[in-house]
Amino acid sequence: MRILVAGATGVVGHPLVGALRERGHEVSALVRKGARDRAPDADGVVVADALDRAALLSAVSAARPEVIVHQMSALRLLRDDPPAAFAQTARLRTEGTANLIAAARATGARRLVAQSIAFAAAPAGEPVLDEDTPLYVDAPDPGWAATVGAVAELERQVLDADLEGVVLRYGTLYGPRTAYARTGGTAQAVLAGRLPLPGGGSGIMSFLHVEDAVGAAVAAVEADATGVFHVTDDDPAPAAQWLPHFARALAAPSPRTVPAALAPRLLGWFMAHQLTSAHGAANDRARARLGWKPARPSWRDALGRE
Ligand SMILES: NC(=O)c1ccc[n+]([C@@H]2O[C@H](COP(=O)([O-])OP(=O)(O)OC[C@H]3O[C@@H](n4cnc5c(N)ncnc54)[C@H](OP(=O)(O)O)[C@@H]3O)[C@@H](O)[C@H]2O)c1
Repeated sequence: MRILVAGATGVVGHPLVGALRERGHEVSALVRKGARDRAPDADGVVVADALDRAALLSAVSAARPEVIVHQMSALRLLRDDPPAAFAQTARLRTEGTANLIAAARATGARRLVAQSIAFAAAPAGEPVLDEDTPLYVDAPDPGWAATVGAVAELERQVLDADLEGVVLRYGTLYGPRTAYARTGGTAQAVLAGRLPLPGGGSGIMSFLHVEDAVGAAVAAVEADATGVFHVTDDDPAPAAQWLPHFARALAAPSPRTVPAALAPRLLGWFMAHQLTSAHGAANDRARARLGWKPARPSWRDALGRE
């Protein structure tokens, strides 16, 4: 198939281009001007900023894809400028998705596979949730509510478009180039003793190795199924388990415990929520309908080791 990967220099997008080519697909990489030297080996490279609708249309027209994969975010800015990272990522999820869908329709693409997140669910009910759980659009933190609002808008657009729409809600990514890689921001916080364990650490995390994010995207490109899928490993776990394990694997100091009430001030609302009250995400639907399963079923084997 002819496939266009938008976000082809990214943590997931870059290895995805190679993985799709290994499966025999003809893959074009969409990159921004100035990022050509970071583009992966591909059958074609097209250049556009996804927020520039006309430029994007001309790039997608040149690639003539049957399937488009949306792996765009601005989360790379998180370390230097968190407000810009969130604002720009929200624009990519809303305006960027709308531009991609307009280009897909204008050029006759059949299928759109888009990246979303598994940890945007409202934390209620079972400790491990399925895809029907409502998104946390009314989270008490205005920043997180805005992020989840943009995620909900991306999902609505992808599912309502006159295309085969697939939303992959990735778990918390670990592995090379992620925040949980040894050089990544979260690992550095643990090494510096800046990521304490609040309360009993009862927030549940569903992790996902980058290789499995790539594998699920390949499965979603090749499958017929449409809809929303959690793409997570098989081992949702409370912070009380994964954070001390992560610290040990990094040879970092043991995370100190702090009262849960102090966590939002120490860690920011989102991380405090993740560590104290988030729920996990079950991957049964992706297994059944995409024919995908994680090659790395548990974070326990490699988190903190690469
Ligand atoms: N589930 C999760 O845990 C999760 C989900 C998403 C992200 N993250 C974290 O966030 C970080 C980023 O991961 P990622 O793969 O989502 O993102 P990424 O590595 O930052 O890749 C995003 C891609 O989007 C492209 N892009 C950004 N703005 C664009 C624009 N205006 N037009 C066209 N392309 C644009 C980037 O291109 P440039 O190279 O030109 O910037 C890059 O190719 C990682 O550390 C990851 O762990 C985590």
